[in-house]
Amino acid sequence: MNKIDLSKNESPFNNLKEINDDIFNVLLSLNRYPKNINILNKLAEYHEIDSDNIYVGNGAADVIFKVLSVLDINSVTFSTPCFDGFKYMVQALNLSENSISLFDDGNQNFNGLINSNLFDIVILCNPHNPTGELLSLSKLDELLRCFPKNKYIILDEVYIDYTKNNVDSLSLLEKYNNLIIVRSFSKSFGLAGLRIGYCISNKKIINALKNKTVPYNINSISSVAACSALNNICKIKENIDIIIKERCKINDELIRYGFSISNSQANFIWVNAGEKAILYYRYLFDRGLEVKFYDNFGLRVSVGNEEQNNYFLKVMQDLSNK
Ligand SMILES: Cc1ncc(COP(=O)(O)O)c(C=O)c1O
Repeated sequence: MNKIDLSKNESPFNNLKEINDDIFNVLLSLNRYPKNINILNKLAEYHEIDSDNIYVGNGAADVIFKVLSVLDINSVTFSTPCFDGFKYMVQALNLSENSISLFDDGNQNFNGLINSNLFDIVILCNPHNPTGELLSLSKLDELLRCFPKNKYIILDEVYIDYTKNNVDSLSLLEKYNNLIIVRSFSKSFGLAGLRIGYCISNKKIINALKNKTVPYNINSISSVAACSALNNICKIKENIDIIIKERCKINDELIRYGFSISNSQANFIWVNAGEKAILYYRYLFDRGLEVKFYDNFGLRVSVGNEEQNNYFLKVMQDLSNK
């Protein structure tokens, strides 16, 4: 039996026809080098900022890895559990890891993050992976104010489009020269396979990243697809709205079945299962559902399409009756 994969926070939607058409057109001129400048200009227009403040890479993971590589840093702080990639990056770059555990209820330990003097850079995910916890703009501002000015902060916003409240973090860039905001086309734009992400920061940091990047690092197909997604933002937003609606439905139902969940503002839900996590995971796995498992802590389940979500809910309802 093929598993239903709800473990990677992917978009359940097929490409928009408009994106496919644009991809098809670029296939006819693959003899040409990519025109990366298009995606930079398109992003500048989308965010209403200068293109000199944007760096584009092969997914948010590549961009974060590049940031950690070019800055003069020795140690990295982040909440744990978190996106697994951070651990890998820190190890690959021989940096020291300073991880601050989430509280048992899944919330982040902000005092722990702020009071840690060990770090040169902190990675803050908003919403957080795996709990979906969202920090408001004022909370972010409060946190950033507490971080020393000579330390860097990566604000990883790969799930930000799924939040109901608008968190205009870009407005913080004027105040905080040490802030690097990271976004991705992998989640809300549904282009994970094309590996395209970017960061927005001050020109000095962006130049440092560009100086360590070979020309044409983004291929034509990715660049065209990302531009096409931005050109069709209204349709992308319709898909985002469906995910938010489905997430609310799943959350409400799980609460009704008696599960403890977080108020996730991302395209996944968090089941705070504690030591039962392994039992829940096995129960779902045996019924064809692949979710992300955190030992003695919980399960992170991506919001899939309606049919997948309804099946997941049915299995969870059965589980709650055991
Ligand atoms: C918090 C977080 N940051 C970064 C990434 C990597 O995103 P991308 O596919 O753009 O490399 C992920 C992927 O799941 C993630 O959860």
